[in-house]
Amino acid sequence: MVDPDTLLADALAQVDAAPDLAALEDVRIATVGRNAPLPLALRDVGTLPPEERGEAGKRLNIARQQIEARLTERQAALESSALADTLANDRIDVTLPGRAMPHGGLHVLTQTRREIEQIFLDMGYAIAEGPEVETEFNNFTALNIPDDHPAKADSDTLWVSDGVLLRTHTSPVQVRVMGAQDPPVAVICPGRVYRRDTQDATHSPIFHQVEGLVIDEGITLAHLKGTLEHVTKRLFGEDRKIRLRSGFFPFTEPSIEVDVSWGDGWMEILGAGMVDPNVLEHVGYDSTKVTGFAFGMGIERIAMLRHGIPDIRMLYDNDVRFLAQLSNS
Ligand code: DAH
Repeated sequence: MVDPDTLLADALAQVDAAPDLAALEDVRIATVGRNAPLPLALRDVGTLPPEERGEAGKRLNIARQQIEARLTERQAALESSALADTLANDRIDVTLPGRAMPHGGLHVLTQTRREIEQIFLDMGYAIAEGPEVETEFNNFTALNIPDDHPAKADSDTLWVSDGVLLRTHTSPVQVRVMGAQDPPVAVICPGRVYRRDTQDATHSPIFHQVEGLVIDEGITLAHLKGTLEHVTKRLFGEDRKIRLRSGFFPFTEPSIEVDVSWGDGWMEILGAGMVDPNVLEHVGYDSTKVTGFAFGMGIERIAMLRHGIPDIRMLYDNDVRFLAQLSNS
């Protein structure tokens, strides 16, 4: 029979030495757990000679109570020091400045499109949109583009099926707008366009244009020029001048190409012209009564010129270091 006093002294020493709650739990199992020496001894009391049983049982029970009391005490002490530790170590300094969350901004193309839209909204234009999958008729035929025009070739156009294509410019939206409303018309049509181009520093098979269209009685080239002068100054600065060169588009007559003053020279920024009477007749307008002008500009080109972006691909790579420099936020 083990000596209860020895068991007790040994157990109390272990309890007092337990450094943390996990160690204390191990001590509990080792001292008063089911298979610990003391409970085993208590179970064996029945095997002692009858006259010894009472005394032995009593001493062992007292020892167990004392150990259990000490375990409870130690547990309370360890719990409160664990709490004190947590309070000391996890203290939050509410006076520290917060960490700013990185936040996004509008892509430079979106910013540019919105600025262009605002310039025209301020002049009373409406915004019209059309589908990116277009009919050959709206994209070419109604715009006076003949069947043998090089733009219609497979090498330039992405065909979806017979007579259906990915629009190669925003000009078909002109056709849709005129088909849907009578003059006067003053709209811009921003949108994505597709060409069968290989990507390089100045070409992308997908890019964006803004089309403009004004139709009314008595609209002349002077209106077009005044409008473009105003738009150019708002986009590039009050000191800019524009220069009109003659050009050719099947849907305008006359057609012009427009340059903006750039340092000592000029930069081409858009194509424009007076809407060809054939186009007006195609949509059922009376070309002896109304005239109009149209223009088309590339949003990428405007953004690149304004921000000095050397390569169109930078606009699509989504390199955050680049985008952040041109972010509006
Ligand atoms: N659609 C032409 C293009 O994609 C741009 C253009 C030129 C649009 C002259 C027009 C215009 O409305 O009058 O290159």
